[in-house]
Amino acid sequence: MPAVEIKPDIYWIGVNDRTTDLFEGLWPIAEEGVTYNAYLINDEKKAIVDLAKALKTDEFFDQIAEIAAVSEIDYVIINHMEPDHTGVLNTLRQIAPQATILGSPKTSEMLESFYGITDNVKAVEDGETLSLGRRTLQFLSTPLVHWPETMMTYETSDHILFSCDAFGGYGALRGAIFDDECADLDFYQKESLRYFVNIVAKFSKPVLKAIEKLAEVPVEIIAPSHGLIWREHSQLIVDLYKRWAEYATGATEVGITIVYGSMYGNTETMMNAVAQGISRVGVPLEVFDAARTHVSYILPSLWTKRGVMVGTPTYEGALFPPVSQVLEMAAVKRVLNKKVGMFGSYGWSGGALRNLRKIIEPMKWELVDACEFTGKPTEDDLRRGEKFGASFAEIVKAQD
Ligand code: FEO
Repeated sequence: MPAVEIKPDIYWIGVNDRTTDLFEGLWPIAEEGVTYNAYLINDEKKAIVDLAKALKTDEFFDQIAEIAAVSEIDYVIINHMEPDHTGVLNTLRQIAPQATILGSPKTSEMLESFYGITDNVKAVEDGETLSLGRRTLQFLSTPLVHWPETMMTYETSDHILFSCDAFGGYGALRGAIFDDECADLDFYQKESLRYFVNIVAKFSKPVLKAIEKLAEVPVEIIAPSHGLIWREHSQLIVDLYKRWAEYATGATEVGITIVYGSMYGNTETMMNAVAQGISRVGVPLEVFDAARTHVSYILPSLWTKRGVMVGTPTYEGALFPPVSQVLEMAAVKRVLNKKVGMFGSYGWSGGALRNLRKIIEPMKWELVDACEFTGKPTEDDLRRGEKFGASFAEIVKAQD
């Protein structure tokens, strides 16, 4: 996609990535893609805010060259060191060795460890400004959104916030780069939530701190480094991020996530009965087969809904491995304070429930009840399962 002028002399020079299948080597984006948004301020001094992943080096330099000679860049502003935003740095250094790299004090240390770069680097302090001629940039320290060195860059006359990971999402751009040009905002909102939970949620406290700090800054355009630029509804994406970050410790949505696995269909049969019971109470429900759904897509439901129903057979005295892997990732991402129910089949001595108690304890998940059965569920078992689902849903609903 060609460069796009956002405001006079300020350009989006980002690139779409539809090649990478796993973001961070972990999270699936083969279907959705991702962008590495970067921005060029073509003033008396020329500055680039954020860069791109190394895979996109040629395309990225073509984007810059549409507006200005790469060799004439004066400043490279690194809001965040993760290589999805800095991978082209060494090549840029070779073409424009005179360009000063600006970042937080921690960025200076990371520049050496990631890229061996030590010279022509300037650490900027929180609130420090940089005049480019007609336009002035201000640097705002926002540590741990997403790494400790992270900052944001603010353009002071048109009130543009280059927020890097914050307010970003998965999803390559489909022609439109602004929210007001996009006919499918739901897709980007959904992918922003998945990105938030996969990448940023663990740092919810710093996210809330950053949003509090930004309340004092008039912002008209949110220009993150992934996903859409929010021009018409800039407050919407801030509010969404705030709500999602508050879920880390506060009340979440009335709803239940069923995460289940089934070896021969017995636990799956019970899952359908439990789901019927939950639905009868009218509580929103999402169902995921842990063996066939990447945890990336399950985490948003776990993060936002207050009830979790774990369906698992006993497998070698423990949880069915795909189910325990989902729960282990939930623990890594600090998905806390859920009400939990458990159902599943076992053949002889059981063990899944004991194992589940151990896994959920550090996450402060409260086990409300369990509904186990041997072998294939009988008609009575299924009726019991339906009642079990309904009473669990009543408990989740009552918390509203
Ligand atoms: Fe988009 Fe934390 O990197």
